[in-house]
Amino acid sequence: MLAIGTWILLVIFAILICIYVVMTNFMRKRRQGEPPIVKGHMVWGSAQHFAENAVSFLQESTKEYGDVFTIRLVNQYLTIINDPHSYEAMSSEKNFDFDPIQKQVNWNVFSFVLKDARKMIKDTGRTVRGSYLQAGFDSFANNLAISYDNMAETAPNPSLKNEENCHPWHTDGLRTFAASTIFDAIFNTVFGRDDGHPFDSNMVFRNLEVFHKSFNYFWLGFPKGLFPSAMKALEQLVTMPDAEELLARSDVSDYITTAVRYMQKLGQSEADIKGHNLVYLHVNYNTFRLAFWALNNLLENPKAHENLMSELNAAIEDKMQGNSAVFTMKDIEELDVLNSVVNESFRMASGVFMVRYIQEDTNFQTSAGKTFLMRKGDRVAIYPPAIHKDAEIFEQPMEFKYDRFCNGKKFYKNGEVIKHPLMAFGSLCPGKRYALLQIKWYLMSVLTRFDMRLQEGEHAQYAYEYHGHEILPPTKDIKFDFREKNHVVPLELAN
Ligand code: HEM
Repeated sequence: MLAIGTWILLVIFAILICIYVVMTNFMRKRRQGEPPIVKGHMVWGSAQHFAENAVSFLQESTKEYGDVFTIRLVNQYLTIINDPHSYEAMSSEKNFDFDPIQKQVNWNVFSFVLKDARKMIKDTGRTVRGSYLQAGFDSFANNLAISYDNMAETAPNPSLKNEENCHPWHTDGLRTFAASTIFDAIFNTVFGRDDGHPFDSNMVFRNLEVFHKSFNYFWLGFPKGLFPSAMKALEQLVTMPDAEELLARSDVSDYITTAVRYMQKLGQSEADIKGHNLVYLHVNYNTFRLAFWALNNLLENPKAHENLMSELNAAIEDKMQGNSAVFTMKDIEELDVLNSVVNESFRMASGVFMVRYIQEDTNFQTSAGKTFLMRKGDRVAIYPPAIHKDAEIFEQPMEFKYDRFCNGKKFYKNGEVIKHPLMAFGSLCPGKRYALLQIKWYLMSVLTRFDMRLQEGEHAQYAYEYHGHEILPPTKDIKFDFREKNHVVPLELAN
């Protein structure tokens, strides 16, 4: 129950928002050359339609208004470019700026301002690429192996019969299992291991789950006091060790080391540093979310699972050195079925905007040669999920087809090949290669170490109300059985 003071705050806030929105909406006039504005509710604009089903809302709007149109989400005007061929032009337009978007998340969600953000993101971004990538990936693989060993020791509910010569089956939630394995590994890779510390992956995962439920409201600027459970979760998350304690860990990630030193140099407070570190954990949490979907999609599609296992088994045979199979990053990236399964999982589960703030009035030309005046102070976006679910580009878009991306398949819109059909990382994400490698290594290692099967009738569904999150969560966890395989070939990363 909310306290009475909170209710009063809520009512005052709602009245102020309504007055402000109706006034600004009333005063806004479409100027010549600007995109058409989608009709919406006097106060909410198109927010309700968007929240109910963003993809079908944007597809219907495209039919009615064309590829470029403006929607209003309460008080924010957002011009949608629903054209995959305009991705490159949008990404490279100098007047379309990501900085204010990043600032909005940092301030509204995590309550800090990053000083000299552009330079810092450039420097820290390097620590998950190029020569740093191997070290980060090795650290992740080591932590993942530890999480599997812990899992094998502590597996819950040895409820099913022990078949002859086989390890016993265990029952668990698939998402819970992914949290104890890939999330645990990511967490320890980011912050360094300190087993027994109260700020551990288990506590952090539970609180991140609660906190993320309110993420969209925070991002839009609703007062935090309206979400007491999320605030309680945040209180737990900021029990993170102080900067010096993290830096003293020998295996803390290069990303955190670089970022923390940078922030200390600029005189940022401990609270700012913790806020930043939570943003970093938040972007990594997407890797876990996607890994869940990839695993789920394989377990729901036996043919996909079988064909991926054939590819993996052949690769393992090919890469044997002594008792282990040894893979380079390039070897992993060349596994065609694995790549397709991961891409297809991204296509189905991504929920994020690629959004920019418009710094100056800008005449933007689409791929079809039409010019639109984009208004200074509005936002402009490509919404990847609407493109990912376009039936002209991806046949039967609501179906998971594990081999959709095999053999370098090309995708077309209006008869022209699309340069970037998959836009789940936007154009700016520095962690793309790292995240993809982590997910692929996770699938390779988990599927070769454990037998897995979904329980009868279990089926994960996308929680569409979380559109706006990079990767959609499922509506609920699903039950599955797993057991260790009898003969496991250890997988290793080549240096
Ligand atoms: C499945 C995992 C991930 C997904 C789906 C994802 C997705 C995204 C998206 C959509 C953006 C906005 C880009 C744009 O609008 O052009 C972004 C930005 C960003 N991502 Fe990722 N990301 C993931 C993992 C990571 C990882 C592992 C890192 C670690 C370094 C990372 C670091 C960042 C940063 C620093 C930005 C802001 C870039 C900037 O301000 O220029 N992400 N990500």
